[in-house]
Amino acid sequence: MLKIVKDNVKSLREKSIAVDMPASEKELKLLNEMLDYLKKSQDDEYAKKHNMRAGVGLAAPQVGVNKRMLVVYYQDEDNKEILHMLINPKIVASSIKTCYIHSGEGCLSVDVDHEGYVYRPYKVTIKAFDASKMQDVTIVARGFEAIVLQHEIDHLNGVLYYDHIDKINPFKKEENSVEL
Ligand code: NI
Repeated sequence: MLKIVKDNVKSLREKSIAVDMPASEKELKLLNEMLDYLKKSQDDEYAKKHNMRAGVGLAAPQVGVNKRMLVVYYQDEDNKEILHMLINPKIVASSIKTCYIHSGEGCLSVDVDHEGYVYRPYKVTIKAFDASKMQDVTIVARGFEAIVLQHEIDHLNGVLYYDHIDKINPFKKEENSVEL
């Protein structure tokens, strides 16, 4: 089982390096292990037994590998499976319009809750290699999916969600931001 690196560890704050393409068997295997971890974390019984918190995304630096790789996995409100296993993701476009999660964001590497709103672009376009399809992809994500992808890409740059929370007024209201 993968071990999650917590936010008191310096490597979580470092910028990860790009993966040389084509990715190695070892890198692809790690992405599969990360997906497996997320799936297990979402299985209530398994998670409880193994003292795991449920997660919808995981970035390689969170499992001790500072390479630009991440996995996103969850079922959306229409029970559609959202799966991304990205290598060298790059945000190529972001909307001016923002959104935020009313209850705030969480992170498997952060054990202490940091209250406050994290505003992020509502819509992003991302280019990457997707190991679940074994091809280059262009993803257009909105709302929750866009937030999760941006949160994971932040990890590749050593950034954590609470870095975005306004220190003086954590619940500062932003005009025209979509609440999720
Ligand atoms: Ni996180």
